Amino acid sequence: MTLEQFRLDGQVAIVTGATGGLGSAMARAFAAAGAHVALADLPSRRDDAVRLTGEVVEQAGSSGTRAIFVPLDVTDLAGIEAAVQQVEAELGSPDVLVANAGINIPKPALEVAEEDWDRVLDVDLKGVFFCCQAVGKRMVARGRGSIVTIASQNGVIGYPYRAAYCAAKAGVVNLTRVLALEWAASGVRVNAVGPTFVDTPLTRITLANPTIREDILRRIPLGRLGTAEEVANAVLFLASPAAGLITGAILLADGGWTAI
Ligand SMILES: NC(=O)c1ccc[n+]([C@@H]2O[C@H](COP(=O)([O-])OP(=O)(O)OC[C@H]3O[C@@H](n4cnc5c(N)ncnc54)[C@H](O)[C@@H]3O)[C@@H](O)[C@H]2O)c1
Repeated sequence: MTLEQFRLDGQVAIVTGATGGLGSAMARAFAAAGAHVALADLPSRRDDAVRLTGEVVEQAGSSGTRAIFVPLDVTDLAGIEAAVQQVEAELGSPDVLVANAGINIPKPALEVAEEDWDRVLDVDLKGVFFCCQAVGKRMVARGRGSIVTIASQNGVIGYPYRAAYCAAKAGVVNLTRVLALEWAASGVRVNAVGPTFVDTPLTRITLANPTIREDILRRIPLGRLGTAEEVANAVLFLASPAAGLITGAILLADGGWTAI
Protein backbone atom coordinates (compact mmCIF):
# COMPACT_ATOMS: atom_id res chain seq x y z
CA MET A 1 0.00 0.00 0.00
CA THR A 2 1.44 3.32 -1.01
CA LEU A 3 0.04 6.84 -1.02
CA GLU A 4 0.44 6.76 -4.80
CA GLN A 5 -2.85 4.88 -4.94
CA PHE A 6 -4.65 8.01 -3.76
CA ARG A 7 -3.32 9.93 -6.77
CA LEU A 8 -4.77 10.34 -10.26
CA ASP A 9 -1.63 11.17 -12.19
CA GLY A 10 -2.33 11.68 -15.89
CA GLN A 11 -6.00 10.74 -15.58
CA VAL A 12 -8.74 12.86 -17.13
CA ALA A 13 -11.43 13.95 -14.67
CA ILE A 14 -14.68 15.77 -15.46
CA VAL A 15 -16.34 17.73 -12.66
CA THR A 16 -19.82 19.12 -13.37
CA GLY A 17 -20.88 22.23 -11.49
CA ALA A 18 -17.16 22.86 -11.18
CA THR A 19 -17.29 26.56 -10.27
CA GLY A 20 -19.59 26.00 -7.29
CA GLY A 21 -18.61 25.77 -3.64
CA LEU A 22 -18.00 22.01 -3.64
CA GLY A 23 -17.12 21.61 -7.33
CA SER A 24 -14.27 24.13 -7.17
CA ALA A 25 -12.75 22.29 -4.18
CA MET A 26 -13.03 19.04 -6.15
CA ALA A 27 -11.33 20.60 -9.18
CA ARG A 28 -8.47 21.81 -6.97
CA ALA A 29 -8.14 18.43 -5.24
CA PHE A 30 -8.12 16.49 -8.52
CA ALA A 31 -5.50 18.74 -10.09
CA ALA A 32 -3.38 18.50 -6.93
CA ALA A 33 -3.65 14.72 -7.24
CA GLY A 34 -2.21 14.89 -10.75
CA ALA A 35 -5.36 14.72 -12.89
CA HIS A 36 -6.15 16.80 -15.95
CA VAL A 37 -9.45 18.45 -15.06
CA ALA A 38 -12.41 19.42 -17.23
CA LEU A 39 -14.38 22.07 -15.36
CA ALA A 40 -17.90 21.69 -16.71
CA ASP A 41 -20.46 24.32 -15.79
CA LEU A 42 -23.17 26.56 -17.22
CA PRO A 43 -22.00 28.92 -20.00
CA SER A 44 -22.89 31.81 -17.68
CA ARG A 45 -20.09 30.66 -15.34
CA ARG A 46 -17.42 31.00 -18.01
CA ASP A 47 -15.48 33.83 -16.36
CA ASP A 48 -15.29 32.07 -12.99
CA ALA A 49 -14.41 28.80 -14.68
CA VAL A 50 -11.62 30.24 -16.79
CA ARG A 51 -10.15 31.93 -13.70
CA LEU A 52 -10.39 28.64 -11.81
CA THR A 53 -8.64 26.65 -14.55
CA GLY A 54 -5.62 28.92 -14.13
CA GLU A 55 -5.71 28.62 -10.33
CA VAL A 56 -5.99 24.84 -10.20
CA VAL A 57 -3.10 24.37 -12.61
CA GLU A 58 -0.95 26.80 -10.65
CA GLN A 59 -1.81 25.15 -7.32
CA ALA A 60 -1.18 21.69 -8.72
CA GLY A 61 2.44 22.74 -9.02
CA SER A 62 3.10 20.16 -11.73
CA SER A 63 4.12 21.33 -15.16
CA GLY A 64 2.03 18.69 -16.91
CA THR A 65 -1.37 19.31 -15.30
CA ARG A 66 -4.02 20.75 -17.61
CA ALA A 67 -7.44 22.23 -16.92
CA ILE A 68 -10.11 23.38 -19.36
CA PHE A 69 -13.55 24.97 -19.14
CA VAL A 70 -16.34 22.97 -20.74
CA PRO A 71 -19.67 24.78 -21.13
CA LEU A 72 -22.40 22.40 -20.01
CA ASP A 73 -26.05 22.55 -19.01
CA VAL A 74 -26.80 19.09 -17.62
CA THR A 75 -30.46 19.44 -18.63
CA ASP A 76 -29.45 19.62 -22.31
CA LEU A 77 -28.89 16.03 -23.44
CA ALA A 78 -27.30 16.93 -26.80
CA GLY A 79 -25.11 19.40 -24.93
CA ILE A 80 -23.87 16.66 -22.59
CA GLU A 81 -22.65 14.62 -25.56
CA ALA A 82 -20.97 17.68 -27.10
CA ALA A 83 -19.27 18.46 -23.77
CA VAL A 84 -17.86 14.94 -23.46
CA GLN A 85 -16.60 15.13 -27.05
CA GLN A 86 -14.85 18.42 -26.20
CA VAL A 87 -13.13 16.72 -23.26
CA GLU A 88 -12.04 13.81 -25.46
CA ALA A 89 -10.66 16.18 -28.09
CA GLU A 90 -8.82 18.49 -25.67
CA LEU A 91 -7.77 16.24 -22.77
CA GLY A 92 -8.42 12.64 -23.82
CA SER A 93 -10.84 9.90 -22.75
CA PRO A 94 -12.43 10.56 -19.37
CA ASP A 95 -11.21 8.30 -16.55
CA VAL A 96 -13.27 10.00 -13.83
CA LEU A 97 -16.64 11.74 -13.75
CA VAL A 98 -17.95 13.63 -10.75
CA ALA A 99 -21.66 14.30 -11.31
CA ASN A 100 -21.81 17.23 -8.93
CA ALA A 101 -24.00 19.93 -10.53
CA GLY A 102 -27.08 20.51 -8.44
CA ILE A 103 -29.69 23.04 -7.34
CA ASN A 104 -32.24 23.37 -4.59
CA ILE A 105 -35.51 25.31 -4.38
CA PRO A 106 -36.40 25.11 -0.67
CA LYS A 107 -40.16 25.45 -0.10
CA PRO A 108 -42.86 23.92 2.08
CA ALA A 109 -44.27 20.87 0.28
CA LEU A 110 -47.68 22.57 0.07
CA GLU A 111 -46.15 25.39 -2.00
CA VAL A 112 -44.05 23.38 -4.45
CA ALA A 113 -45.17 24.22 -7.99
CA GLU A 114 -44.84 21.82 -10.89
CA GLU A 115 -42.08 23.97 -12.39
CA ASP A 116 -40.12 23.85 -9.09
CA TRP A 117 -40.41 20.08 -8.98
CA ASP A 118 -39.44 19.64 -12.62
CA ARG A 119 -36.46 22.01 -12.37
CA VAL A 120 -34.98 20.29 -9.32
CA LEU A 121 -35.54 16.78 -10.67
CA ASP A 122 -34.21 17.77 -14.12
CA VAL A 123 -30.89 19.07 -12.79
CA ASP A 124 -30.36 16.91 -9.71
CA LEU A 125 -31.53 13.51 -10.97
CA LYS A 126 -32.10 13.45 -14.73
CA GLY A 127 -28.95 15.52 -15.32
CA VAL A 128 -26.89 13.17 -13.15
CA PHE A 129 -28.20 10.12 -14.98
CA PHE A 130 -27.53 11.39 -18.48
CA CYS A 131 -24.05 12.66 -17.59
CA CYS A 132 -23.30 9.21 -16.15
CA GLN A 133 -24.71 7.55 -19.26
CA ALA A 134 -22.69 9.70 -21.70
CA VAL A 135 -19.42 9.15 -19.86
CA GLY A 136 -20.25 5.63 -18.65
CA LYS A 137 -20.74 4.25 -22.17
CA ARG A 138 -17.19 5.32 -23.04
CA MET A 139 -15.79 3.88 -19.79
CA VAL A 140 -17.62 0.60 -20.35
CA ALA A 141 -16.18 0.43 -23.88
CA ARG A 142 -12.65 1.04 -22.52
CA GLY A 143 -13.14 -1.38 -19.59
CA ARG A 144 -12.26 1.10 -16.87
CA GLY A 145 -13.36 4.27 -15.12
CA SER A 146 -14.68 5.70 -11.90
CA ILE A 147 -17.82 7.77 -11.41
CA VAL A 148 -18.74 9.62 -8.24
CA THR A 149 -22.22 11.06 -7.95
CA ILE A 150 -22.87 13.81 -5.45
CA ALA A 151 -25.98 12.90 -3.50
CA SER A 152 -26.56 14.35 -0.02
CA GLN A 153 -27.37 13.21 3.47
CA ASN A 154 -30.83 14.26 2.23
CA GLY A 155 -30.75 11.21 -0.02
CA VAL A 156 -31.06 8.94 3.01
CA ILE A 157 -32.96 11.10 5.51
CA GLY A 158 -35.79 13.61 5.21
CA TYR A 159 -35.42 17.34 5.79
CA PRO A 160 -38.26 19.88 5.79
CA TYR A 161 -38.90 22.17 2.81
CA ARG A 162 -36.96 19.91 0.50
CA ALA A 163 -39.56 17.58 -1.02
CA ALA A 164 -38.15 17.71 -4.56
CA TYR A 165 -34.52 17.88 -3.43
CA CYS A 166 -34.79 14.92 -1.06
CA ALA A 167 -36.67 12.90 -3.71
CA ALA A 168 -33.99 13.70 -6.29
CA LYS A 169 -31.09 12.88 -3.95
CA ALA A 170 -32.71 9.60 -2.84
CA GLY A 171 -33.00 8.87 -6.56
CA VAL A 172 -29.28 9.58 -7.03
CA VAL A 173 -28.46 7.18 -4.18
CA ASN A 174 -30.30 4.25 -5.72
CA LEU A 175 -29.34 5.19 -9.29
CA THR A 176 -25.71 4.95 -8.15
CA ARG A 177 -26.28 1.37 -6.95
CA VAL A 178 -27.92 0.36 -10.24
CA LEU A 179 -25.11 1.79 -12.38
CA ALA A 180 -22.54 0.14 -10.09
CA LEU A 181 -24.20 -3.24 -10.63
CA GLU A 182 -24.59 -2.83 -14.40
CA TRP A 183 -21.04 -1.63 -15.04
CA ALA A 184 -18.99 -3.56 -12.46
CA ALA A 185 -18.20 -6.38 -14.87
CA SER A 186 -16.80 -3.77 -17.28
CA GLY A 187 -14.38 -2.45 -14.67
CA VAL A 188 -16.31 0.76 -14.03
CA ARG A 189 -16.92 1.74 -10.41
CA VAL A 190 -19.83 4.02 -9.43
CA ASN A 191 -20.13 5.48 -5.93
CA ALA A 192 -21.87 8.38 -4.24
CA VAL A 193 -20.82 10.95 -1.68
CA GLY A 194 -23.52 12.33 0.59
CA PRO A 195 -22.38 15.53 2.31
CA THR A 196 -23.97 17.25 5.26
CA PHE A 197 -24.35 21.04 5.24
CA VAL A 198 -21.37 22.95 3.83
CA ASP A 199 -21.41 26.75 3.53
CA THR A 200 -21.68 27.33 -0.23
CA PRO A 201 -23.89 29.51 -2.45
CA LEU A 202 -26.40 26.62 -2.38
CA THR A 203 -26.90 26.73 1.39
CA ARG A 204 -26.02 30.35 2.21
CA ILE A 205 -29.61 31.56 2.68
CA THR A 206 -30.51 28.58 4.88
CA LEU A 207 -27.39 28.95 7.02
CA ALA A 208 -27.91 32.72 7.36
CA ASN A 209 -30.96 32.02 9.52
CA PRO A 210 -29.55 31.78 13.08
CA THR A 211 -32.32 29.47 14.35
CA ILE A 212 -31.91 27.02 11.47
CA ARG A 213 -28.12 27.17 11.68
CA GLU A 214 -28.22 26.37 15.40
CA ASP A 215 -30.59 23.46 14.76
CA ILE A 216 -28.30 22.12 12.02
CA LEU A 217 -25.20 22.35 14.22
CA ARG A 218 -27.08 20.57 17.03
CA ARG A 219 -27.83 17.66 14.67
CA ILE A 220 -24.21 17.22 13.56
CA PRO A 221 -22.40 15.16 16.22
CA LEU A 222 -19.04 16.63 15.20
CA GLY A 223 -20.56 19.99 16.11
CA ARG A 224 -19.65 21.91 12.95
CA LEU A 225 -20.47 22.24 9.30
CA GLY A 226 -18.47 20.31 6.73
CA THR A 227 -15.89 22.03 4.57
CA ALA A 228 -15.72 21.84 0.80
CA GLU A 229 -12.22 20.38 1.11
CA GLU A 230 -13.48 17.54 3.31
CA VAL A 231 -16.13 16.65 0.74
CA ALA A 232 -13.55 16.85 -2.05
CA ASN A 233 -11.28 14.49 -0.09
CA ALA A 234 -14.06 11.89 0.08
CA VAL A 235 -14.70 12.25 -3.65
CA LEU A 236 -11.01 12.00 -4.49
CA PHE A 237 -10.69 8.83 -2.43
CA LEU A 238 -13.61 7.12 -4.20
CA ALA A 239 -12.34 8.22 -7.61
CA SER A 240 -8.82 6.97 -6.95
CA PRO A 241 -7.31 3.48 -7.31
CA ALA A 242 -7.17 3.37 -3.48
CA ALA A 243 -10.92 2.65 -3.61
CA GLY A 244 -10.48 -0.13 -6.17
CA LEU A 245 -12.71 -2.57 -4.28
CA ILE A 246 -15.47 -0.06 -3.64
CA THR A 247 -18.48 0.24 -5.92
CA GLY A 248 -22.14 0.94 -5.21
CA ALA A 249 -21.19 2.63 -1.94
CA ILE A 250 -22.81 5.72 -0.46
CA LEU A 251 -20.11 7.52 1.53
CA LEU A 252 -21.81 9.91 3.93
CA ALA A 253 -19.53 12.83 4.75
CA ASP A 254 -22.05 14.05 7.28
CA GLY A 255 -20.25 14.66 10.56
CA GLY A 256 -22.27 11.79 12.03
CA TRP A 257 -25.74 13.28 11.33
CA THR A 258 -27.18 9.99 10.04
CA ALA A 259 -25.56 7.87 12.76
CA ILE A 260 -28.08 9.09 15.33
N1 LIG B 1 -23.46 22.63 0.07
C1 LIG B 1 -24.06 21.66 0.74
O1 LIG B 1 -24.31 21.79 1.95
C2 LIG B 1 -24.41 20.38 0.05
C3 LIG B 1 -24.81 19.30 0.88
C4 LIG B 1 -25.16 18.10 0.28
C5 LIG B 1 -25.08 17.97 -1.10
N2 LIG B 1 -24.71 19.02 -1.86
C6 LIG B 1 -24.67 18.82 -3.30
O2 LIG B 1 -23.38 19.14 -3.78
C7 LIG B 1 -23.47 19.59 -5.13
C8 LIG B 1 -22.75 20.92 -5.26
O3 LIG B 1 -23.38 21.86 -4.41
P1 LIG B 1 -22.71 23.24 -3.97
O4 LIG B 1 -22.98 23.39 -2.54
O5 LIG B 1 -21.33 23.32 -4.47
O6 LIG B 1 -23.64 24.25 -4.75
P2 LIG B 1 -23.26 25.56 -5.60
O7 LIG B 1 -24.55 26.27 -5.82
O8 LIG B 1 -22.14 26.28 -4.97
O9 LIG B 1 -22.73 24.94 -6.97
C9 LIG B 1 -23.58 24.28 -7.87
C10 LIG B 1 -22.94 24.32 -9.24
O10 LIG B 1 -23.79 23.62 -10.14
C11 LIG B 1 -23.89 24.40 -11.32
N3 LIG B 1 -25.15 24.12 -12.01
C12 LIG B 1 -26.41 24.43 -11.62
N4 LIG B 1 -27.28 24.03 -12.54
C13 LIG B 1 -26.56 23.46 -13.54
C14 LIG B 1 -26.91 22.89 -14.79
N5 LIG B 1 -28.18 22.83 -15.22
N6 LIG B 1 -25.91 22.39 -15.56
C15 LIG B 1 -24.62 22.47 -15.16
N7 LIG B 1 -24.23 23.02 -14.00
C16 LIG B 1 -25.21 23.52 -13.21
C17 LIG B 1 -23.82 25.85 -10.85
O11 LIG B 1 -23.47 26.74 -11.90
C18 LIG B 1 -22.76 25.75 -9.76
O12 LIG B 1 -21.47 25.90 -10.28
C19 LIG B 1 -24.96 19.66 -5.46
O13 LIG B 1 -25.35 18.49 -6.14
C20 LIG B 1 -25.61 19.71 -4.09
O14 LIG B 1 -26.92 19.22 -4.09
C21 LIG B 1 -24.35 20.22 -1.32
